[in-house]
Amino acid sequence: MAKILSAFVALAIFAAVARSQPAVSLLIDNGYPSTGSIDLTTVLADVSTKKGQTFHFGSTYDTYDADQSWFDTAFATFYHHVVSENGCKWDATEPTQGVSDLTECLATQSFATTYDNSFRGHNTFWHEQTPTWLPGSFTADELVGTIIPQHVQQEIQGMGTSVTSWDVVNEVVGDGVTTGMTALECVQNKGDWPTVTSDGSGVPLVTDLSFVYAAFKTAYTYAGSSTRLAVNDYNTGGQDAKTACVISLVQSIQQNTSIPYDRLAIGFQSHLMASTGNFYTKEELATTFSTLAALGVNAMITEMDIEIGQNNTAYLRYQASIWGDYVDACLYASNCNEFINWDPRDDLSWRGVAAAATLFDASGNPKPAAYEVAARLQNYAAGNAEPCSTSSGTSVCTITGTGTTTTGTTTTTSTGGSTTTSISTTTTSSTGGSTGCVSALYGQCAGIGWTGCAECATGSTCTFLNDCELFILLLPMFELKAYLGKGY
Ligand SMILES: *[C@@H]1O[C@H](CO)[C@@H](O)[C@H](O)[C@H]1NC(C)=O
Ligand SMILES: *[C@@H]1O[C@H](CO)[C@@H](O)[C@H](O)[C@H]1NC(C)=O
Repeated sequence: MAKILSAFVALAIFAAVARSQPAVSLLIDNGYPSTGSIDLTTVLADVSTKKGQTFHFGSTYDTYDADQSWFDTAFATFYHHVVSENGCKWDATEPTQGVSDLTECLATQSFATTYDNSFRGHNTFWHEQTPTWLPGSFTADELVGTIIPQHVQQEIQGMGTSVTSWDVVNEVVGDGVTTGMTALECVQNKGDWPTVTSDGSGVPLVTDLSFVYAAFKTAYTYAGSSTRLAVNDYNTGGQDAKTACVISLVQSIQQNTSIPYDRLAIGFQSHLMASTGNFYTKEELATTFSTLAALGVNAMITEMDIEIGQNNTAYLRYQASIWGDYVDACLYASNCNEFINWDPRDDLSWRGVAAAATLFDASGNPKPAAYEVAARLQNYAAGNAEPCSTSSGTSVCTITGTGTTTTGTTTTTSTGGSTTTSISTTTTSSTGGSTGCVSALYGQCAGIGWTGCAECATGSTCTFLNDCELFILLLPMFELKAYLGKGY
């Protein structure tokens, strides 16, 4: 669960005012099912085969959630990966200092095992949902040298080596960060315990990143040999200061702890709203994921939900298009293999039932987004090309045919109609299927009056120069240095 800060209050007001949403084109309009029950068991296995790595698609679960029979079916058929929403947080696992209590965390893991689901750990360090004995009057040395390592060891060792990934630290980066901040400045900007005390004095307790390093070092010692260790945070995924901060934090963790990059991950929480500017585009996500892939770091969508302005067909379809784009961003990236939906149905959503922010309605029935997500998985498993960015609306992305052909278009008409310009597609893989429209490196991809391809070849991205540039040229210098392995 994330804490939504004041930024979201502003967004909520914006969403209430903005009543319109673009008409979108979906795979479920093109031959994929939009009614009936959904069983993803086979398709997820096929996705994993295609990716060459297990693709973990799941949701939150806690044993005290109501309607157990619905959960039994949902996790036997639709979701195949479990995260305990609250049962593995510090307040649950160490209510008395030094005494480990993994009862609820283990129970959710056992539920996962019953349905042949994998299990992800959330989380070992967060400034919220801490036990009552914390923050407490401990010294920085006691916290960093004893309390954190003991807690992380008890939890990670206790949950075993099969856990796919752990959110080792959760929400440690501030919201007021600016470009170019160091990892320490990013974390100090958070203004929360333990980089400040909680007694209102404003005096820092820990003045460096040692608490983060201690948590990661311990996690690395006790986790399974393929368990990924993640920094998890919200409002991340694009080319912005907060995302740069989480990347730079991961780099600083690697440098301090020597944990290999191929054991580290960034969890992109993705608590979104269905309005422009309140989610990242598929292209923005792809650029960030490529940056991480170049380092060997995994990208994960860890807490996906999308609040809609109104519970009507147009919004439900817009929600489906955004969800579909996020699923595609993960599927078609080499380094993304976990996708967690945060809360399995609307009535259990931490964002409130009125937000209608999940894949299933309050009665547990699949919404358009659930069918669209299923369609994206099937489309990928079938070896078809990546669909265009449906959340851009039909003026830029119209899917045609039976979902095996997608046509990227860039024509906008002043009438607001859905006129599209078909662009011939080329087959780029031996697996069949056709691609969206892709511009070559240094080719044009945008601009006033431009009606050609809007997407760029792999490894490049459409820049403000309106052409496709290698993503490496766009990295801030500190990332470029790390990428090139320069020691300065
Ligand atoms: C790691 O960080 C700690 C705490 O900031 C520091 O004392 C130590 O020297 C660092 N180690 C490396 C290898 O950077
Ligand atoms: C949204 O509308 C549908 C259909 O009217 C209804 O079944 C569902 O419960 C509604 N969801 C919310 C969160 O109001």
